[in-house]
Amino acid sequence: MAQSKTDTALEHIVSLCKRRGFIFPNSHIYGGLQGAYDLGPMGVELKRNLLATWWSDVVYKRPRMYGLDSSILTHQKTLHYSGHQDTFSDLMCDCRQCKSRWRYDHLDPKNPRCENCGSDDLTDPRPFNLMFKTNLGAVDDDSSTAYLRPETAQGIFTNFKFITDTQSPKVPFGIAQIGKAFRNEITPRHFIFRVREFEQMEIEFFVKPEESDQWHTYWVEERKQWWITQGLSPENIQCAAQTGDELAHYARATTDILYKFPHGFEELEGIANRTDYDLAVHSKDQDSISPQSKVKKNTDSTARLALQNTETKAWEIPFVIEPSAGVERGMLALLTEAYTEETLENGNQRLVLKLAAHLAPIKVAIIPLAKNKPELITLAEQIQQMLQAAILGPVVLENSGNIGKNYRRHDEIGTPVCVTVDFDSLAETASNTSLVDTVTLRDRDTLEQERVHIDQLSEHIIQRYFQYHYQPAPFIVGK
Ligand code: GAP
Repeated sequence: MAQSKTDTALEHIVSLCKRRGFIFPNSHIYGGLQGAYDLGPMGVELKRNLLATWWSDVVYKRPRMYGLDSSILTHQKTLHYSGHQDTFSDLMCDCRQCKSRWRYDHLDPKNPRCENCGSDDLTDPRPFNLMFKTNLGAVDDDSSTAYLRPETAQGIFTNFKFITDTQSPKVPFGIAQIGKAFRNEITPRHFIFRVREFEQMEIEFFVKPEESDQWHTYWVEERKQWWITQGLSPENIQCAAQTGDELAHYARATTDILYKFPHGFEELEGIANRTDYDLAVHSKDQDSISPQSKVKKNTDSTARLALQNTETKAWEIPFVIEPSAGVERGMLALLTEAYTEETLENGNQRLVLKLAAHLAPIKVAIIPLAKNKPELITLAEQIQQMLQAAILGPVVLENSGNIGKNYRRHDEIGTPVCVTVDFDSLAETASNTSLVDTVTLRDRDTLEQERVHIDQLSEHIIQRYFQYHYQPAPFIVGK
């Protein structure tokens, strides 16, 4: 079978996503809203599966991991002290010819030209703050300014005292959060790769300062292995350490996990060593800040964000390692990897989405061979109910009667297995009595078919398709 994988043009993936109900352009009926997308019935299932898997693997399977769901609306002081008000910006420039606006670092550095009209008549680059500002309540002045959070991380730092007071964790420990983040990107592009409203899966993992380099290495490897377990090929993943200007103002070191998206290798997730920067900048008592911290004095915070050493009684600020992944980029990587065009042995072409079974939007499709035979439909309905009770995720009944069309649809949305109920399944029409009460399973990837007894169907499908295994590496130090 000939296959084409990550070099498949992005347009093919965009088209599949629209045709099969994964991802739609937002506000399409009004011409679209740039940098915003909506998830359709298949997209929402894929996303929920990805989030649930991450949460289970990150929070439930590791010791001393705590969950959080903080507010999107963020106090201006949080983003003042975090440094985002001053520094969370990209350089932009305008084309004087066609009036379009560009992110300066996206243009050819040797010969910057407008990507729209090709002109080199561009304004000097100037910073543009990426945060979305809003006003709380009826007052519309600076005192009511708030922001839509540009990263979920700040909510973790501002809740640090509540979490440590209520959970009494010992380092190393982590706080995990999944949620929306907003950035007024100058040039959203590459479908859902760079958008203005997106979701992050973030962990802030607090460690002893002297162990932070080891933990940084640990998390880079852990996160890379996790994406491989979700179905990304190792050869499509690279790790790249950020250097110089690439590093965010808070980071001592950052390693990006890059994926080979259709437009090239780009960041899927970043793992940063944020040192004690964030806790220190939000802390009212900064005596214990390590000398290398470049923090401004906080005259507004009411809390000391530090942990008391039980032996020395001194207050110490832990360092933090932050694995931060984008949900939309994760989905695009998974879709890119799974998208497969095949030429079958009989010469026919098929398009199939080879998603890992635990991520597939629809788990099983039950297809009665004919729609005008009530006994077949009744049996299919019973099988659907039986499987739905045993399997987490949608088990759907397809009773349009067009089996070829149903197979095509389920190949394209990535349903791992289809169950066909045919005349041999029924006692009165079976060609062979040994086939009564059996159905045919069709495997999405191999196209192999097997006949299975209905009594064994749930167990067989769960065993064959829905055994997800991921075990995190044990904590390396400070157990
Ligand atoms: N708290 C750290 C942080 O926010 P980041 O590298 O700016 O770090 C983390 O963002 C992840 O969020 C990125 O690796 C990427 O997957 C995702 N992300 C960032 N900006 C995005 C955008 N405009 N559209 C989609 N995903 C984005």
